[in-house]
Amino acid sequence: MTLNVGVIGTGMIGQDHIRRLTHVLNGARVAAVTDVDLERARTVVDDLPGAVVHETGQDLIVDPGVDAVVVTSWGPTHEEYVLAGIAAGKQVFCEKPLATTREACDRIVEAEVAAGRRQVMVGFMRRFDPQYRAMKSAVTGGEIGAPLLMHAAHRNPSVPPHFTSEMIINDSAVHDIDVARWMFDDELAAVTVLKPRTSSKAAAGFHDPLLVLLELRGGVLVDVEAMVNAGFGYDIRGEVVCEDGAVELSESAGVVVKRAGRHSGRVPENWRERFVTAFDLEFQAWIDAVTAGGTTGPSAWDGYAATVACETGLAALHSGQRIPVVLRERPDLYAKSAAQEEVAP
Ligand SMILES: NC(=O)c1ccc[n+]([C@@H]2O[C@H](COP(=O)([O-])OP(=O)(O)OC[C@H]3O[C@@H](n4cnc5c(N)ncnc54)[C@H](O)[C@@H]3O)[C@@H](O)[C@H]2O)c1
Repeated sequence: MTLNVGVIGTGMIGQDHIRRLTHVLNGARVAAVTDVDLERARTVVDDLPGAVVHETGQDLIVDPGVDAVVVTSWGPTHEEYVLAGIAAGKQVFCEKPLATTREACDRIVEAEVAAGRRQVMVGFMRRFDPQYRAMKSAVTGGEIGAPLLMHAAHRNPSVPPHFTSEMIINDSAVHDIDVARWMFDDELAAVTVLKPRTSSKAAAGFHDPLLVLLELRGGVLVDVEAMVNAGFGYDIRGEVVCEDGAVELSESAGVVVKRAGRHSGRVPENWRERFVTAFDLEFQAWIDAVTAGGTTGPSAWDGYAATVACETGLAALHSGQRIPVVLRERPDLYAKSAAQEEVAP
């Protein structure tokens, strides 16, 4: 059976997901697309045999020829489309963020709870990255003892001029926030944001880098260096320190060349290169789960918790204070949250 997917938002990542759904993965085809920029949607559909363009996202969602929906429009529009997808009884893959405010995420959680089943997966693709998965296996396997803390770094080579310090938290560190919850199967207790000396490459009034300190309820601490003007490449680092050992992401996914007394390897150019396998595995897992009648991976609860953590991080950034993370009670629907859920390797 082929899953007919409708894609809302044919911008950068929408087009990348259309490419993988069409040319890389098994079991799905893109049946419909839409974008507020209809010209862009029409250009994209030219390369998709049999696919149609809808005038609006709402039209696409109720199209009987669309089995499941991918939301890759701008963050503030996600709530409307995810809620419409749930109401139409369809499975929804929503790129992060699930929604841009705690209240909007809450409404999505309530809608899913009322529907009585999970219909939403949120695009936190790092959970599908082979290195992060191997790290989690080492942490949960027990051989290196109880985890104590994690060091992480998220370095972007550069960002567009409109990027702000707030976006370092909402767009970059949000992935580290989700990794922390998933890696340690725990919720955040508090966030503190420190401002090191600012890079001369950052725009005026822009604090870059930031040091984001995440405290988990069980006591594990995660420090995240988040930097968006690193220049040299897209550098993702992580090390979990446990009672009897430590586990670290590899320096390079490619080969290391040794020559003339030196060794060298490639630093990925951008997030697309670093996480291409994670995106592929994430989408294949979603296609397989939806075809089997359900969903998988990061849930609406995980999307809610990440957005609340980001709001808390912004309060910490602006106040300079340690701010507690206050979550609503977790509905039973998410008792086995995706933070615990394992996905096939
Ligand atoms: N998982 C990741 O690492 C990752 C990486 C990049 C982007 N994203 C997320 O994906 C989403 C899209 O990001 P992008 O970089 O592709 O942005 P983009 O600006 O390149 O594309 C967004 C598209 O959505 C369209 N759009 C805006 N409002 C719409 C509406 N109401 N209805 C239909 N279409 C609408 C725009 O016209 C545009 O074509 C964002 O939420 C972003 O945070 C996630």
